[in-house]
Amino acid sequence: MNQNQEKENVALAALDYIQHGCILGVGSGSTVTSLIQNLSKVKHNIKASVSSSEDTTNKLKQAGFEVDELSNVGSPDLYIDGADEVTRNFYMTKGGGGALTKEKILAAASKKIICIVNSSKIVDVLGKYPLPIEVIPMAKSYISREIIRLGGQPELRQNFVTDNGNLILDVHNLTIIDPPQLEKKINNIQGHPIVLTLARLEKRKGHIFVLNCIEKLKNEFNNLQYIIVGEGPELSYLKKIVKNKKLDQNVIFLGKANDSEKKYIFSKTDLMIMPTIDESQNRSIEGFGIAYIEAALFGIPSIATNVGGASEAVLHNKTGIVLNHIDELEVNFRELLTNPEKRRHLGRAAKMRALNELQWENITNHYVSLISRIAII
Ligand code: 5RP
Repeated sequence: MNQNQEKENVALAALDYIQHGCILGVGSGSTVTSLIQNLSKVKHNIKASVSSSEDTTNKLKQAGFEVDELSNVGSPDLYIDGADEVTRNFYMTKGGGGALTKEKILAAASKKIICIVNSSKIVDVLGKYPLPIEVIPMAKSYISREIIRLGGQPELRQNFVTDNGNLILDVHNLTIIDPPQLEKKINNIQGHPIVLTLARLEKRKGHIFVLNCIEKLKNEFNNLQYIIVGEGPELSYLKKIVKNKKLDQNVIFLGKANDSEKKYIFSKTDLMIMPTIDESQNRSIEGFGIAYIEAALFGIPSIATNVGGASEAVLHNKTGIVLNHIDELEVNFRELLTNPEKRRHLGRAAKMRALNELQWENITNHYVSLISRIAII
């Protein structure tokens, strides 16, 4: 049987898994193209589809499907995609078509994944097919040097820009004996930590103070990345500040994130900063700061300010840093950037506390016991 027939067969076999009401994530590549060509057979079962690339979006639309945003559909029931190489233990490499970042996000967000490949993709050890890595343009030389240190031979994919505006390094000469370990090492190449604020874009959340610090710290930490997740009235103002301060290479606005997107973002984050300002005179206070706890669950320490309930959500010097004054932000921010051991230590304690003390069951029991005490008084 030739490869095209095999692709058609695996595509047809995958159709059986698309059950009634399915929210379907669709990968990219020629095998997935065979799937899309056959998808009309189960159209009645597909409630919504989400795409991993512009190419797939166009093909789905041509086939008569509407394509939704991941943030609108939540968690896809099923994600179907091809791969470049697959081992018998189901480790695989992806990204031959350069769509790997969205493919991996969709795969992480979905409840079930089906990988469809023809027999030529099955290997004993990954690495013969060059391993694609998506890099932001300014990081290409730095990442290339780090990849060489890992024993790979990176080659910039010529005349190619990903859907996200980035570049692809195809890494040759790797024999990938331990895929999870190599993935971890490559994912950890970032030079310096990724910092996150996850909050509504309102003045009181203090994004501007983080941006002021990034401006000062970016020369010391030239790969510093600040991810801003959330929507709100401050968006255009903050974007203007980023432009004026020339921080475009350091700051990314990701908009609103759903639970599965948040999970992915947290998995990449090293430090959460939300330096709330006291606006109690406007009756706007930080009640608690649940975002600090969400970050803590992923082992991420936080920098907060001593405003409202934040100092209960973040324990000073235990699960993060609580600033008494915003002027203390820069020095503490720098300290946590330069001291990964301290970051890890605080992050570990934050996670233990979130898991052991701050689950809903514990909180509600505590609440009920407080209420019953009030009733007795
Ligand atoms: C695109 C991918 C593809 O799934 C992978 O390259 C396999 O493609 P094909 O089905 O054409 O062999 O990861 O980024």
